[in-house]
Amino acid sequence: MYNFDSLLQRRGSDSTKWDALKRDFGRDDLMPFWVADMDFPVLPEIVEALSKRSTEGQTFGYTFAGQDYFNSVIAWNKTRHGLDLEKDEIIPVPGVVTAIAALLLKVTKEEDKVVINPPVYTPFFQVIKDMNRQLVLSPLIQKDGKYIIDFADLEEKFRHGASLYLMCSPHNPVGRVWTKEELEQVTQLCRKYNVLLVSDEIHGDIVFSGHTHIPILNVCPEAIAISAPSKTFNIAGLKSSTILVKEPNIKKKVQEAIDCLHLYPNLFAYEATKAAYRHGAEWLNELNAYLEESARFTVEYLREYLPQIGAYIPEGTYLMWLDFSAFGLSDQELESRMINVAQVALNPGVEYGQGYGQFMRLNIGVPRFYLEEGLKHIVDAFK
Ligand SMILES: Cc1ncc(COP(=O)(O)O)c(C=O)c1O
Repeated sequence: MYNFDSLLQRRGSDSTKWDALKRDFGRDDLMPFWVADMDFPVLPEIVEALSKRSTEGQTFGYTFAGQDYFNSVIAWNKTRHGLDLEKDEIIPVPGVVTAIAALLLKVTKEEDKVVINPPVYTPFFQVIKDMNRQLVLSPLIQKDGKYIIDFADLEEKFRHGASLYLMCSPHNPVGRVWTKEELEQVTQLCRKYNVLLVSDEIHGDIVFSGHTHIPILNVCPEAIAISAPSKTFNIAGLKSSTILVKEPNIKKKVQEAIDCLHLYPNLFAYEATKAAYRHGAEWLNELNAYLEESARFTVEYLREYLPQIGAYIPEGTYLMWLDFSAFGLSDQELESRMINVAQVALNPGVEYGQGYGQFMRLNIGVPRFYLEEGLKHIVDAFK
């Protein structure tokens, strides 16, 4: 049994979530529920592996991804997700956004159209614009209280000549875990309109009961997936991710992009990844159960004390998408009340696309007592 109930002391460690509050929210006396990392102690075997590597031999020269690293990625994907991978289908990279940037650079051209589904992870917008590609938005729609892809709109966007479709699977911030049927429909459209499908699967391990993360490569072998142990095991600061690609021509281009930019993880990233994937299955099972319970707790707490806040249990991720539109505040008033009255830091909805200013993204990757305290702050401020 692992303990997810004690709060890590992270202030003073240059933690973005805890130490950049002043920079990003204007004051540092806030309870942080923003940046997507968690406040739980890391899997002990990761700490051991890093300590061992930092003392043994005292050599920190250039290091490549060894066979053990590939074996750990292959075994994890096979046992956790039923995905068969060969060593040469795995390209280690430092980060997911870095990987997306490299892909855009090499597999698309300037002014090509790239489609995304707002509300979606903020850097998707930025990286596409920064690479001088045209950003095409196909917003998710809500049906029966659930966010879904608007396939008619997506097809319309593809018909106008998209080069690449960047999916978020599972989807940050709405917490959808796309079903096989949805992914098949996406695949069908990508094939029909010759659109390259890229799936950001960084949240793929954090999935709740009744839902299964389907790796895109099991539905669409010619797609590119980007996965990582970073969200799963809370090791984002170590910069370890993988591009998974099977189609030989695309793989060649992706490898060229990575080599031309020298985008290789550092040696501690390999060590942490091996330890996480080798020893972390049970830790993750318990984490997922804890997070799911925290999501349920959040919904019930808000339903009891302030039902005007719209909340639902996500299908995966440790992020919750809260709707404050019932309060009739302007976007700025909502943000200000959150910061200056509730004294909590949540990500404002506008970061995920225009028109989402009445939403806030809540990170529940914290001990439950701390989550409850944060929710109490919010309820008191909005009552
Ligand atoms: C969907 C998604 N992709 C990518 C990232 C960031 O990945 P990286 O730090 O490896 O660039 C995040 C972090 O929150 C995310 O939610």
